[in-house]
Order: sequence, then C-alpha cells, then structure tokens
Amino acid sequence: MNGVPRHLAVIMDGNGRWALARGKPRLAGHRAGAETLERVLAWCGEVGVEILTVYAFSTENWRRPKDEVEGLMRLLGLFIRNRRAKLLEDRVRFRVIGRRDDLAPALRRRIAALEAETAAFTRQLVVALSYGGRAEIVDAARRFAALPAEERTDAAFARCLYAPDLPDPDLIVRTSGEFRLSNFLLWQCAYSELFVTDVLWPDFDRAAFDRALASYARRDRRMGGHA
Ligand code: FPP
Repeated sequence: MNGVPRHLAVIMDGNGRWALARGKPRLAGHRAGAETLERVLAWCGEVGVEILTVYAFSTENWRRPKDEVEGLMRLLGLFIRNRRAKLLEDRVRFRVIGRRDDLAPALRRRIAALEAETAAFTRQLVVALSYGGRAEIVDAARRFAALPAEERTDAAFARCLYAPDLPDPDLIVRTSGEFRLSNFLLWQCAYSELFVTDVLWPDFDRAAFDRALASYARRDRRMGGHA
C-alpha cells in the first residue's frame, strides 16, 4: 500500500462538454471547474496530499477562440483575488509553472505577489499556466547547455525545470475519459501512476477523488526496480 500521494497532479478536462450538455457557454464550464478546484484543494488538505498541481492552461490553449482565452485569463485573475485570503488562512503556497512571459503584465504581477506572500508555506497549489511539457524541456535545455559538460546529468537537468524543488507527481489524474497526457509534466511523469476517470472535471466530487486515491493506494510502485 502506498498511502496518500504526496504530489497529486490533475488534468482538469471536460469543462467544455459539461457546459455543452447544459446548453451553457464553455466559460460556464470553466467557472464550474474553478469551483471544483477549490473543493479538491480542500480535500487534499483533509487527506494529507501536500502538493496539488493543476493543468489550467496549456501552450496550445492560446489557439482557442479569443473570447474563451480572455475568459480563462479573467477567471485566473479572479481566482487569485478571491482565494488569496483562504490560501493565506490555510497556509497554502501558490505558484505558477509555465511561460509566464506569455501572460499579461497585470496577471503576472498578481501571480508574483501571491507567490511572494505564500512562499514560506509547505502545502502547495501549483498552477500550470501557459504550460507545455515540451516547452519546459526546451527552456530547461537552454539553461542546461550553459553547464560544463561534466555536470550535465539527469539530476542537473531536473534542476533546470520550472520548479526544481518539487518532487515528481506520485499520481496524475485525468478527468473526462481521455487516455493521454497532452503535454503535461513530460519530464516529471516518468514514474507517476496514472488514473483516468470518465467524470467531467466540474462533476469531480469527493467520491471520484476518493476512488482515485484508493486506486493509487493499491498500485505496486517498483520505479524500475524489483518487487
Ligand atoms: C479543459 O477542458 C480545461 C481547460 C482548458 C481549462 C481549465 C481551467 C479551469 C478548470 C478553471 C480555471 C483554473 C484556475 C486555476 C482558476 P476543455 O475546455 O478542454 O473541455 P472539453 O474537452 O470538454 O472541451
């Protein structure tokens, strides 16, 4: 038995389909998804998951219609503004991984301010924003290339990633039934356990969360070694 994952990563998929099924605009699905995120963060605190990383916006998501991109960015800004007090109260460190130069300066400033305010906390919410696993690896490779040849090890490469102090995710959950990683944490997923559920992200409730953790607890994690 593995116990509770220390680092849980989530691909929050299915917001669009959830909205469509209700005859609502896609953004209503993203709003409902942001509420699910708040609940999941609270459950992580209850069961002892230390780090929650969520895929909020990929490098590919910039290709979505302008309205949806703007709506998502607004939602992220609102999340930071509205959840700030709760994150401070619950002592949750907030951080963003991704190409932050792509983000609007006002959003970047809000992110940096909340990151600074919460930097000392142990529990973490990591939001992948304008994030792509390949982009992260390319960005890391640029830094890695500057190292002397004899220092270019696996471990040194990992130190060039966006958040080098984070342990690799123990469990990656994807909602809405798609069996793919979609460019999420490509370096870090090497030994992560995967869990896919048909539940759409806005419907991801406590029972679905518990099922994911129960499945993880039963996994035999050999990490490439022997049983
Ligand atoms: C994928 O669903 C989801 C996204 C692209 C956005 C995820 C964002 C949130 C849950 C809310 C904002 C996040 C924070 C941190 C406040 P999709 O639109 O691809 O769904 P579909 O596959 O059903 O179309």
